[in-house]
Amino acid sequence: IKTNLKIEPVAGRIGAEIKGLRLSEHLGAPEVYAIRQALLKYKVLFFRKQYHLDDAGQEAFARLLGEPVSHPTVPIKEGTQHLLELNSNDGGGRADAWHTDVTFVDAYPQAAILRAVIIPETGGDTVWANTAAAYENLPEGLRDLADRLWALHTNEYDYAAHHKGTSSADDYYYNELFTSTIYETEHPVVRVHPETGERTLVLGQFAKKILGLSLEDSNHLISVLQGHITQLENTVRWRWAVGDVAIWDNRATQHYAINDYGDQERVVRRVTLAGDVPVSIDG
Ligand code: SIN
Repeated sequence: IKTNLKIEPVAGRIGAEIKGLRLSEHLGAPEVYAIRQALLKYKVLFFRKQYHLDDAGQEAFARLLGEPVSHPTVPIKEGTQHLLELNSNDGGGRADAWHTDVTFVDAYPQAAILRAVIIPETGGDTVWANTAAAYENLPEGLRDLADRLWALHTNEYDYAAHHKGTSSADDYYYNELFTSTIYETEHPVVRVHPETGERTLVLGQFAKKILGLSLEDSNHLISVLQGHITQLENTVRWRWAVGDVAIWDNRATQHYAINDYGDQERVVRRVTLAGDVPVSIDG
């Protein structure tokens, strides 16, 4: 299938900028196919200067890639169908911990489309990590161990574990986790990606405990595996401009919104696409 898309890798193991495309619900099948293929390969895609997109346009475009779903605990933005707004100044919106979105439910989202609405003059970049490359580059012994592990994921708020010295009102996770609806599920630490067949690591902020280990051993092991996932070689960092759109494969990435912009305003809006229950290497 032929398209005029220009795909330029941003970093060695993850991330590509797509040029020459105006995102909209009117994109043709070849372009949508090309976006999907690029997403599977690069894990996170960046599109600059998509100023024409408003909330409805973003939601309509997202529908070309999958089925939008609302966040299970954070209210949707008023006047939209599923949109999640992360606003640094409204008491939430700083996703400054490594995470894969919403892994505390069984079928967590397959992808997300994030649009930059207000961006600080300095700071507020987002970093993504490739969890397939991380798995691939694990030493063999750790890979074999990870293959056999399952972890408990929950949105139950552990203030002591997650609080990092900023005010709690500044913490997105305060909203996402400080809720009366507690979700809990178990996922294999290594899942087989349903489209690429790659093995990817499923951990991040909501992974509370490795099953069958003491909390102490579990914390150590999670920290060792997280260290491999977030090794700089597995990451890409994006300096946002207003109008940028990022799309990530939530089955093969973690991300972290850098909280280095003080009280400047930062507003991004996310549409999240329904995913499926992770399948372990044993099927
Ligand atoms: C998110 O975690 O979905 C938001 C990332 C960001 O604010 O850059």
